[in-house]
Formats: sequence, structure tokens, C-alpha cells
Amino acid sequence: MCGIIGFVGSERPLGGMLLEGLRRLEYRGYDSWGVAVGQNGSIKVAKKAGRIIATDPELPEATIGFGHTRWATHGGVTDQNAHPHVDCTGRFAVIHNGIIENFRKLRQHLLDSGHEFQSETDSEVIAHLIEQAVGDNQDVDAVVAAVRSVFEQMRGLNAFIVLDNHTRHLFAVKNVSPLVLGRSDGGSHIASDALALVDHVDQIHFVEDGQVAVIGPGKIQLVNQETGDPETLDWRPMTLTAVDTGLHGYPHFMIKEISEQPEVIRRIVTDEIEPVRGLAELIRASYGTFLVGSGTSSYAALSGSYLFSRIARRHVNFTVGSEFKYQEHFLTDKSLVVALSQSGETADVIEAVMAAQERGAKIAALVNVPGSTLDRMADYSVHLNAGPEQCVLSTKAYVAKVAVLLLAAHILNGSEHAGREILWQSVDGIEQLLSPIASDHIRAVAAQIVDQDHCYIIGRGLSYPTALESALKIKEVSYIHAEGFAGGELKHGVIALIDKGTPAIVFSPLDETRDDILSGAMEMKSRGAVIIGVSPENDEVFDIHVPVADVGDGSPIVNVVPAQLLGYQLALMRDLDPDKPRNLAKSVTVK
Ligand code: G6P
Repeated sequence: MCGIIGFVGSERPLGGMLLEGLRRLEYRGYDSWGVAVGQNGSIKVAKKAGRIIATDPELPEATIGFGHTRWATHGGVTDQNAHPHVDCTGRFAVIHNGIIENFRKLRQHLLDSGHEFQSETDSEVIAHLIEQAVGDNQDVDAVVAAVRSVFEQMRGLNAFIVLDNHTRHLFAVKNVSPLVLGRSDGGSHIASDALALVDHVDQIHFVEDGQVAVIGPGKIQLVNQETGDPETLDWRPMTLTAVDTGLHGYPHFMIKEISEQPEVIRRIVTDEIEPVRGLAELIRASYGTFLVGSGTSSYAALSGSYLFSRIARRHVNFTVGSEFKYQEHFLTDKSLVVALSQSGETADVIEAVMAAQERGAKIAALVNVPGSTLDRMADYSVHLNAGPEQCVLSTKAYVAKVAVLLLAAHILNGSEHAGREILWQSVDGIEQLLSPIASDHIRAVAAQIVDQDHCYIIGRGLSYPTALESALKIKEVSYIHAEGFAGGELKHGVIALIDKGTPAIVFSPLDETRDDILSGAMEMKSRGAVIIGVSPENDEVFDIHVPVADVGDGSPIVNVVPAQLLGYQLALMRDLDPDKPRNLAKSVTVK
């Protein structure tokens, strides 16, 4: 988590570049922010808890500076805990992304040697460790040596940047947490995401693990963190252009991105067939395929395992990213791991991929951000091409992943045409749900349940992952406790939670699950639940019917949409920001 941006110019001052970059990185964390600039003789810091303010803070003009947007891990959300952190002498400032797993021990040593801490964060130890390691040395090489030895002492997945106001350089190093360098006529740049550098740089270099970047005015050098030997920069042209980040008349990104879903699927059917065929061939050639993802991506992966079983008669395993390393023992060099990730930066999934690579497995990635870490790690990538997802909740990237997996399953089965047909029907099905009449209906459903504390959601078969994803959408945006269950699990405990008036969403497509799921709905209704049936056909058990198109195996793509819309409406009715729910971040780069 956390967004990082830095700049060293020869003459060109920072201007509003840091804050502009931080606003672009806000999706990585938005509970506090801070910037530091190096002046003659002192470092000026401005930092604050809360979202990045709209107006620039009063910072003196400078040619060296960096900024940080935080998602708290160690230490509460306070002004003091916001980055940057400064050492005791005021020479060094530090920004950090990651978790220093052994920070307590490091901090205690520093306290014992007389260092004074201003924050409760793990990150502040870096500033004091650098101060201690550099001592009175004034030259760049001494700081490089300090960065190398401090990084060596840190455990965990981390990236940090040191601003040294004496040598007027930035020093950066990373392990898994991403960093990208950029250069332009005006100076040298660094950020945790190339997106933050759009419009400012002509060329970029992705910092690899174990490289220390030494960033001066007009010059960037790399050295190996272990040996200190110089390394070559692999500059490549900056291909990202300013992404269209406007709302285009929509009140929020969440509803804009939900509304873009038909177009996203259309694009997959028309433009992405070749990459999906390639993915299907990799699955065909593998001895054991594993779909891995976190959060919403994990539910897309689970959907995929049902789709491959049903359509391609193929057992494709599914594991949540953070659990993968406990189950990777049977991987071989014939295995295929398919990493699903909107951002391509989720630490749990990256760790899973690293574990798989160690066992020689092949890696495929389904990502929405080209050039992201997972995209670069993978042997083969399918780009979702869904356009930037700016709402913290994932919507369009979810349906894109499920659409790709459905199509791949059909290609494996030799029924590509039928797969494409289902996706076209799904496009129509989503469009129907976005019509004004359907939207009004969802709003009325939201009004009926907005004051409830709990909401339960059931589905069987293909609808089970949909129930899980629907519950996630509702709870993360509205803070109403929502849980998804396999319909059959109802009588094994879940039914104890049903009380008079409890809303229960029941996914009931016209498939083999219908009879069983409806009898489950009846059991809940008998205990007072209000049954909201998402189904192509009404049924007497439904208190409220949300009609959806009958799209066969495309139901996971279409049926999640009412839940996305319901979550959105609930958030609005509860006066919450649907784009930035509390405590969440779009890109989760810590474990
Ligand atoms: C975070 C986001 C979720 C997302 C998950 C996985 O938790 O808040 O919306 O589903 O990360 O993200 P990924 O980019 O790997 O799909």
C-alpha cells in the first residue's frame, strides 16, 4: 500500500508536481499524506491525516522533494504518523511502503543509542538507521552504503526512499513493493506507479528487487544492493498517456465503472480473442492449473473453477492469494498458475507467484494494468483492457475476468462460438439492468433494506461465487454486514442468523440449482426473512423480484450487477463515499 513519488531537478522546481502525483496515487491509500522538500540547510515537511487537500500546502519552492500517501499499518492515522519521517539531525527524510517485520527490535536498538522518535510507525526506524550508518560522511557513496546495509537489516516486503539534503540526492531500494524511475529534460523522477509520472517523463525504468537507485539532478545510477556493483538501467519509452480520469457526468466512479461493463465485455469478445486463445492453450498443456487472486479477484477465480469444470470438463484449482503458499507443495514445472489481479500489484498474489516460480511452474496473469508487477513477472499475460478502475471497489475488472475465463473454458471445449454468444447475451443482460426502470427498482430495494444491520446472500453452483462477491460489494461500500453462503450450507448453521425482516438475497438462475435454492429460500422465509430473488423468473417465495436476463452460463457476469447497484445505492442512502470506503485501498501491496 502507500503511494510514493519523488523528483530531483537541475533547475526546474517541483511546482505542484508532487501533489498532482500523490492525487494520482491516492488509490494506494488515503488515510494521510505528506511531502518534504529540501531547501538550503533544512528539510521542510508538510503532512496531515485525512485525504489529500485540494489546495497546495505552503511549501517553499525547491528542486528536490518527495511525497507519500499512506494506508496505515503500524501506528494510528495521525499527523505525526504520516510520512515523511525525519532523522534526529534533520539531514534525512524517509518515505516507505511496506511493513518492516522486525521493526521493534530495530527501534529498541535505536532508542538505546539515544535516538528520539516522533511517530509510532515502523517506517521511522529507516531515517534513524540511515543517520546512524552515515554518521558524519558527506558524500553520496556513504549514503549508498548506508541504504544497502539498512535494507539488509529490514525483514519483509518493503520499498523506501531517502531524501538526503546534504548531497541533494534521493536514494531508493525495494523488495517486491514496486518502484519506477523516470527521466525527462527537467530532471529525475521516481514513483510507485508509472501512472504518477504520466506527462512528466519520456522514459522509464522499473527498479528490480535488489537494485539501489541513486537519483541526482539529471543523473540516475543503479547499484546492486548486495555487492555494490553498478547495474545497467533498462530505459524504455513511457507509453502511458494521460488516462481519462474524468467522471463524464457520472456522480461517482463506482456507477461510471458499473455502467462501463457492457463495453468492457464487448471489447473482450472483439479484441481479446487471441490472448484468451493463448491462455486456453496454456491450460490445455499444463498438468494442473491453479487460479489465484485476492478479494474480488479471488471470487472471479472461484467462478473460473466452476466454469472450467462445467464447460470444459476440466479440474482447475482455486486458491486465495494469501493461502497459496500453504498449498503449493505439489506444484511442478508442468503446473500453470494463473494470477488474477486488477492492479497487478497485490502482495499476496505476488508472493504466491514467487512461490510457484520457485517450483518451476509457468505463470499466466490476468491483469488490468499493463506493466504492473504481475504483468512483468508472468510468462504470459492477458490484459483485461477494462480501462482504469478508479473506484476502490472492483466492478468492471471482475466481470472482465469472469468473461475471459468463460471464454477460455469454451475455447478449451472447442465451443468458442458458443462462448462468444453467451458474452454477447451478457452484454444485453447488463444493459437491461442499467436501464432507468431497473435502476429505480434497485433503488427501491435499497430503500427497503437500508436500515438493516445484516444481509445474507445465497447461491449454488455458478451462483455461489456470485453470492460471495455480491456480499463483498454490499459490505465494503455500505458497511451493512453482508455474508454470502453456498445455498446448501444454510441448514448447517447459517439459518440461525435469520430473524424477522432479515434481507436475504437469493440467486436463482434457470439452471440445475433452481429447485434446491428456492427450497432454501422457503426455509429462510418461514423464519421471517425478506427474500429478494435475483432470477429471470419470478417465484412465489420472492418478496421482492429483481428480474435478470436468462444468459445460461453467463449468469455470474450478469447477476452480480444488481448487487453492485444495490451496494452503490445503499452507500448513497447512508451518506457514504462509494469511491473511497473507510480503511480500504485499491492496491494492497502489503501482506
Ligand atoms: C483490495 C481492493 C479490492 C480488490 C483486492 C484485490 O482489497 O480493495 O477491491 O479486489 O484488493 O485487488 P487486485 O488488484 O489484485 O484485483
